[in-house]
Amino acid sequence: MGLKILIIGSGGREHALSWLISKSHRDVEKIYVMPGNAGTLSEKNVFNIECNINNHQSVLDFALSNKIDLTIVGPEVPLVEGISDLFEKNYLNIFGPKKYFSQLEGSKVFSKNFMNSNNLPTAEYNEFDNSEKAKAYLDKKKMPIVIKYDGLASGKGVDICETLVDAKKSVDNLLKPNEKIIIEEFLKGIELSAIYVCNPNAYKQTIGLTWIKDYKSRDEFNSGPNTGGMGAITHPFCSYKKNDVYSLNVEIEKIIIKTLVAINNSSGTTSKYNGFMYLGLMISAMNDKPYLLEYNCRMGDPETQNIALYLEKNNVDFLDLIGFDNEKYPDNFNLSFIDDNNYSGFCCTIVLAAKGYPDSPVKDFYLDLSNIEDNDSVKIFHAGTKVSKGAIKVTGGRILTVNAFDNDKQNAIDLAYENIYKIKAYNDSDLKNENNELIFFRTDIGS
Ligand code: AMP
Ligand code: GLY
Repeated sequence: MGLKILIIGSGGREHALSWLISKSHRDVEKIYVMPGNAGTLSEKNVFNIECNINNHQSVLDFALSNKIDLTIVGPEVPLVEGISDLFEKNYLNIFGPKKYFSQLEGSKVFSKNFMNSNNLPTAEYNEFDNSEKAKAYLDKKKMPIVIKYDGLASGKGVDICETLVDAKKSVDNLLKPNEKIIIEEFLKGIELSAIYVCNPNAYKQTIGLTWIKDYKSRDEFNSGPNTGGMGAITHPFCSYKKNDVYSLNVEIEKIIIKTLVAINNSSGTTSKYNGFMYLGLMISAMNDKPYLLEYNCRMGDPETQNIALYLEKNNVDFLDLIGFDNEKYPDNFNLSFIDDNNYSGFCCTIVLAAKGYPDSPVKDFYLDLSNIEDNDSVKIFHAGTKVSKGAIKVTGGRILTVNAFDNDKQNAIDLAYENIYKIKAYNDSDLKNENNELIFFRTDIGS
């Protein structure tokens, strides 16, 4: 009997993971995605399962009754709410950290205090549960300033405020009764996502994936509101000199090692961090050193889409990468793909978004993707789509990503743009009434 894998989530990240696992050299019998989307539905050997993922008992019942060998959790909410603890109690394999460890993402107050007490580099900050005190503190600070809601907020809990008036408004919006906010210094620089695969039981317990730059703001040149991410590029520092990349790598390695040692020691149990650890970093324009903006206890979106194509083009088997059921890596397992000075190609990811995203995206229109060449250097991963009346219907703000791979960076970018321009939007499912104003994307991804 082959392996049965369950992936929890419905976005582009989960489409990319299911596609990558479907390419595994292992005997994978079935991949279930809960609930999945129109893209996962179209992959070979991948099955969408309708289930409310917030109901952990139902997810567990499905895994037990279908004899799932491995569950991979895409989004943060189930992790922060303890789904891994429940699976482990029931002796099921799950890749994703337990509740205690997931506080690193689930609470900004927990993570900032953790960074501070472990001497990890991060912006100066203060926590507040009282709006008068928060506003009095703001009166003494320089602008811009950053205000963060303590808990999970689906990408809507961080405001970067240019003026004191905006900062005070943000305090009123983000500070809820009996809850907390963080006010922190604004850091200038280049953002970098450094994602690690952490499996305390694997042959190599921590593997750093290729560095990726995520483009967070909605509009070109880092303007407009913050989003979940509008695109991504691998090896953002490819033009840096080798010794600069090396120094940066040393600093980032120090951060991941200190983080894992400290979080494992502080858990008060024998459990260790198991899953992806995503360091959201700002490489400071002042000193070129990395500062932690945040931890995520999962893969990024759209970083996963980018890295999935990159790994597939480099023949990396995802199940080997996360060390599933492996006492050692297979002889042909090649880790050179992570070397940021020795590129094994580039991947460019562009998000196609619905008009009005992120505040109030329009929905219920249709797309024609038929002009996109389906070849092994271009891959579409769906996010906010479903199949309706035989057409692709838009159901969410980040609709899909176009991902392109090439050995040359500019070619990868050009290939991604060439293809995203071929996507057409329609008001109707018969694809007669064309209306491309319903969709948009950033035109500067990769730069
Ligand atoms: P976070 O959820 O903490 O990563 O914040 C979301 C986004 O806000 C980050 O990806 C950055 O683009 C931006 N951001 C957060 N904190 C800061 C900071 N201290 N300085 C500058 N930008 C920040
Ligand atoms: N792309 C940023 C994130 O997944 O948090």
